[in-house]
Amino acid sequence: MNTKYKYKYKTNFDDFEISLVKEIKDVYSLFEKRISKIQSEQLKIFRNIERGLLYFDANSFSNQVHFQFAFQTPVQRWFPYREGYSIKLVNSFIKELGIKGNIFDPFSGSGTTLLSARHNGLQSFGVDINPISVLVSNVENEQYTNTDIKKIKSNIERLKKIVKSNEEYHTSFPLADKVFNKEILNSLLYLKNIIQKIQEERVKNLFFVAWLSIIEEVSNIKKEGNGIKYKNRRRTPNGYIRIDKEKWERQNFPGDKYSYVSNKLIDRLEIIISDIQFKYGLNENKPKIYNGSCLQFDELISDEIEFTFFSPPYCNCFDYFEIHKVELWLGDFIYNKEQFKKLRIKGFRSNINSLDNKPVIFKNENLESLISLFDSNKLWNKKIPTVVRGYFDDTYVLLKKLYLHIKKNGFVGIVVGNSAYSGVIIPTDILISDIAREIGFNVKNVFITRHLTTSSQQKQKLEPLKDYLRESIVLLEK
Ligand SMILES: C[S@@+](CC[C@H](N)C(=O)[O-])C[C@H]1O[C@@H](n2cnc3c(N)ncnc32)[C@H](O)[C@@H]1O
Repeated sequence: MNTKYKYKYKTNFDDFEISLVKEIKDVYSLFEKRISKIQSEQLKIFRNIERGLLYFDANSFSNQVHFQFAFQTPVQRWFPYREGYSIKLVNSFIKELGIKGNIFDPFSGSGTTLLSARHNGLQSFGVDINPISVLVSNVENEQYTNTDIKKIKSNIERLKKIVKSNEEYHTSFPLADKVFNKEILNSLLYLKNIIQKIQEERVKNLFFVAWLSIIEEVSNIKKEGNGIKYKNRRRTPNGYIRIDKEKWERQNFPGDKYSYVSNKLIDRLEIIISDIQFKYGLNENKPKIYNGSCLQFDELISDEIEFTFFSPPYCNCFDYFEIHKVELWLGDFIYNKEQFKKLRIKGFRSNINSLDNKPVIFKNENLESLISLFDSNKLWNKKIPTVVRGYFDDTYVLLKKLYLHIKKNGFVGIVVGNSAYSGVIIPTDILISDIAREIGFNVKNVFITRHLTTSSQQKQKLEPLKDYLRESIVLLEK
C-alpha cells in the first residue's frame, strides 16, 4: 500500500506540494507477481539499503530538476546548459532550511546554485572541471557596472557595423568540416577573432559566452542523448537516412551566411543586455568559482560551508566533455586530442572515458551484490562494472570531504538520477544515502521528483522495478 501523508514538518516549500510516503510502496509482493529471480534479488537489495529512509513524493519538483524553464529564465538563458536545474529549486531549499551561511556547489556547471545564493544575498563557492562551465558561471554571476553596460552596448553597436571578411580563419577542431557549413565556420571564427580583441576582460568574456552559446544553433549538429547528432540524419520507420550535407545546408541556411551568424550573436547579446539592465540585482557576494576537481575542493576552498547543493554526473555513462566537444575545440579550450583525453580523465568517474586505471578503494556490500547481478553478455561495454565502482568510490571521497568541511547542522542536497545496466538498476539515490550514513550524515529525506523512462529494450525487463528508475533529491544533515 502506498500511504501518503501531508508533509507534516514546518515547510517553506511554498509552491511545492510535498508529501511523505510513509510506507515504501510494496511494489511487487515478491510472491504475488511473477517476477524473475534477478528482479527479486534486486528488490531484496533495495529493501536492505532503504531501511529507515524517509521517502517523500515530490512530484511537484519534477519540472525543476532539469533545464526546461532555464531557456526563459533571465541570466540562466545566456547559455543553454542542458544539464542544469532551476534557480527556483535551490531557492526553495535555501528558504525551507533557513540557510544564512555560505553555499557550495562542487559541480557548479552553469552556476545555478550560485545564482540562487546570489538572489538570496549569500556568499557562494563553485567548482567545475569543465572550463566552459567555469567561464559561463563566472559571466552569469559577474557584477556589471553602469560603465560595463555602456561598453557592452557600444560593442554591440560596433558588431552590427562589421561586415563579412574575405580572410580565411582556421581551427584545430578535426571535425570542423563535417560539423559546419564552410562559410558559417569562417564567420564564427572571424567573429571570435573580433571578440578576442575586446580590451575589457569582463565585456570580452560576456561576448565570448554569447558566441559559444550560438555555436550549436548555427552548426550541422545538435546535442542529443549522450552525444552529438548530425541534423541531416533523420530517423524514418525504415531506419536512419542521411541527406546530402550540401543539400541540407542549402535547405536550412540562408544565402548570406555571415549576416545569419552575426545576427544570431547580436540577438543573443540583446537578450543578455536586457537581462543585465532589468533583471539583474547587484549583490556584494560575488561567487568564487574554481576550475578543478570536486575531489580536491578542499584545496581550493577553506571557508566554512553551511549548505552544499549540487547535481553530480549520473552513473549513466553520460560524458559531459563529449556533449560540449564542439564548443571546447572551437573556443580554443583544447587544441589536440591528447588535451581532450586528459580533460576527460579528470572528470568524475561516470563514463568509460573517465576511467584511466584509477584504483577503487571504497567497497560497499550492497553495490557489489547489485554488480554481481549484471549479465556480462548484455553489457554494451565490459568496463561498465568499473565505471559503477569508480562512481561510488568518487562519491565516497566527495561525501567524506564534505562531511569534514561542512559546518555542524549544515545540509547537503543532491539531485541525482538512477540508472540501469543489463536489466539491473543502480539506485544511486539510496546508495548515496547508504554511503552518507556510513560517513556519519543523518539522511533527512529522499524526495522522489520524477520517474525516468528507459529504452524499450530495458523497459520490459525493468517493469516490476520501475519505481526505482527515478530522479530524486537526497537531503543530508551533518
Ligand atoms: C549535472 S551537471 C551540473 C549542472 C549544474 N547544477 C547547473 O545547474 O548548471 C554536472 C557537472 O559536473 C561537472 N563535473 C564532472 N566531473 C567533475 C569533477 N571531477 N569535478 C568537478 N566537476 C565535475 C561537469 O562538468 C558538469 O558541469
